[in-house]
Amino acid sequence: MRRLRRAGIESPRLEADLLLGHVLGCSRAELLARPERPAPVECAAAFEAALLRRLRREPIQHILGRTEFWSMSFRTDARALVPRPETELLVQGALEFLAGRAGGEPPAIAEIGVGAGAVILALARELPSARLYASDVSCEALALAAENARLHGVRERVRFLEGDLAAPYLQAGLAGRLDLVLSNPPYIPSGDIAGLQPEVREYDPRVALDGGGDGLAIVRRLLKDAAVLLRAGGGMILELGLGQPAAMGGIAAVHGWRVERVLRDHRGIERVVAMRVV
Ligand SMILES: C[S@@+](CC[C@H](N)C(=O)[O-])C[C@H]1O[C@@H](n2cnc3c(N)ncnc32)[C@H](O)[C@@H]1O
Repeated sequence: MRRLRRAGIESPRLEADLLLGHVLGCSRAELLARPERPAPVECAAAFEAALLRRLRREPIQHILGRTEFWSMSFRTDARALVPRPETELLVQGALEFLAGRAGGEPPAIAEIGVGAGAVILALARELPSARLYASDVSCEALALAAENARLHGVRERVRFLEGDLAAPYLQAGLAGRLDLVLSNPPYIPSGDIAGLQPEVREYDPRVALDGGGDGLAIVRRLLKDAAVLLRAGGGMILELGLGQPAAMGGIAAVHGWRVERVLRDHRGIERVVAMRVV
């Protein structure tokens, strides 16, 4: 624990337990219930190896190989950004948006920049009849998302597409056929990346973070390109960085969108913006 604390890990006790549970193949609850349980000798070397990775500030989710999101377990590794708890707001925003939709056909939903797949797969669970599409410019991320879809038994329900923003949907003939586009795009200003936590700076893929000079380069391209994918009455929901939702009304209007709703995270910070084409 001392070594973890010295390395700057915020919750050394919790993380030591998680690493030990991982090596012993048991949950943290089981570990705490039987602290006297003897550990096989070979576990000591495995624990030390896991600890060394964490001391180098590799994300604990990479070492454990999984994370929880929307009460589901997802495989996580260096191929894609580790899904963050605040991104659950994107799922919530999508469900609320679709709840207000007039009946008829099941909704068609696309996530641009799917990463490890947590958002679209949470929606697959919540909306059993929805038609689901997910894309990414990174084929490594798409491979991980497809593995997660298989783990959750919904690989056949999600159509994965590789390519830049709206382009793969246009190629697939989906112009004007979607009810909702979702994205948690890269939104960190390039110059801020060097100052991020090592877990993010060194281990999340750069393509998942870098939003250009002011952080909004990809967001502007999405605003310009995504409207053509939507049916009448369709919308787009974006997760944004600190302070960015406040600027979104003006930027969205320039590209023909109206911001309808802004969702705040548990700290009261504006995070997710829902909009429609004017
Ligand atoms: C912040 S991550 C979000 C990952 C996942 N949706 C989540 O919320 O955990 C952004 C994702 O967008 C992808 N991406 C970046 N630029 C892109 C582009 N031009 N077209 C499509 N996807 C892109 C990255 O590869 C990355 O997987």
